Amino acid sequence: SNPSLLILAGDGIGPEVMTEVKRVIEWFGTKRDLAFDVEEDLVGGAAYDKHGTPLHDDTMAKALKVDAVLLGAVGGPKYDALDFSVKPERGLLRLRKEMDLFSNLRPAQCFDALADFSSLKKDIVAGLDIMIVRELTSGVYFGEPRGIFEEGNERVGINTQRYTESEIDRVARSAFELARRRGNKVCSMEKANVMESGILWREVVQKVRDTDYPDVELSHMYADNGAMQLVRAPKQFDVIVTDNLFGDILSDCAAMLTGSLGMLPSASLGAPNADGRPKALYEPVHGSAPDIAGQGKANPIACILSFAMALRYSFDQGDEAARLEAAIEKVLADGVRTADLLGEEGVTPVSTTGMGDAILA
Ligand code: NAI
Ligand code: MG
Repeated sequence: SNPSLLILAGDGIGPEVMTEVKRVIEWFGTKRDLAFDVEEDLVGGAAYDKHGTPLHDDTMAKALKVDAVLLGAVGGPKYDALDFSVKPERGLLRLRKEMDLFSNLRPAQCFDALADFSSLKKDIVAGLDIMIVRELTSGVYFGEPRGIFEEGNERVGINTQRYTESEIDRVARSAFELARRRGNKVCSMEKANVMESGILWREVVQKVRDTDYPDVELSHMYADNGAMQLVRAPKQFDVIVTDNLFGDILSDCAAMLTGSLGMLPSASLGAPNADGRPKALYEPVHGSAPDIAGQGKANPIACILSFAMALRYSFDQGDEAARLEAAIEKVLADGVRTADLLGEEGVTPVSTTGMGDAILA
């Protein structure tokens, strides 16, 4: 049977960019004999409007069954006043949690045609292709104790950075596996100089490498230096593996080396199942962009590149992923631009559909 996909387009520009992804998926079915069984469902505000919850139990069950989930974006001003427990973001958090997606892949890749877009000098970013692997389900965002407590005559806010050896071990493995498909080089970032969790992190990552990945080159770096190096000379890196908090910040920083939010894909992977496919959710980094929603202005490339990641990491179709990425590269080199990519004077932007048309062509 065909590999299965669950599409959760979500809110705002989510459905607009996903429409273009669906056309790309169909193209692979008819032109490359690579058909998918696609199901669609609701998430976020759209699910709340219909079911009173940002992720229905049936949708959760489907997500656990399919080979990969593609998500657009969730949220919007209409839902800002909702109770925390039913906010659109909770739908996404539930997916990540129940699918146990502990490894978040955030590529920072610079398309030559957009190198001028970076806030850095062109030669620092041209040809950049790095991958940040962020631990996504543990660390200081989840550790106990947490809360705001009374202490003497004032309050204290507490969060706990906590990592078990097995949590570090599994995310390290996912980084080494990735590195083998790329430049075979991993840099692990923590703050072992001031944090015990960092000491353990460094030790476990080193042990995983020495035991099972001796062919992969491993280095360690303090995360604050890592931030500096990312901006100073990002091309020194191939794969960076780091914890949830540092990864949140470093991946946003790395992402912006390359230009617009409308260009950035991501993947979140869990444990491999019996046939070796990891549980997986693919989504653009951007949100629902309420300021441009409904106007046909959204750039669909981030979402299309997320599907390219699905081809590569869930379906072992690296060549087809490269074919899709090459089409995007070509379209950009030809000067096709959505409004968010306008730099030069005198270029007329194409619509979301126009960008989809160009890529398909
Ligand atoms: P955002 O990413 O939606 O938008 C930030 C800026 O980038 C806006 O000016 C927007 O127009 C632009 N932009 C984003 N994606 C674009 C694209 N594909 N093409 C062209 N321009 C694009 O972030 P913001 O404004 O902070 O959040 C808006 C809503 O999205 C909020 O409700 C927020 O909670 C939600 N959100 C959802 C995320 C998700 O679903 N994973 C992630 C981030 C925010
Ligand atoms: Mg962030």
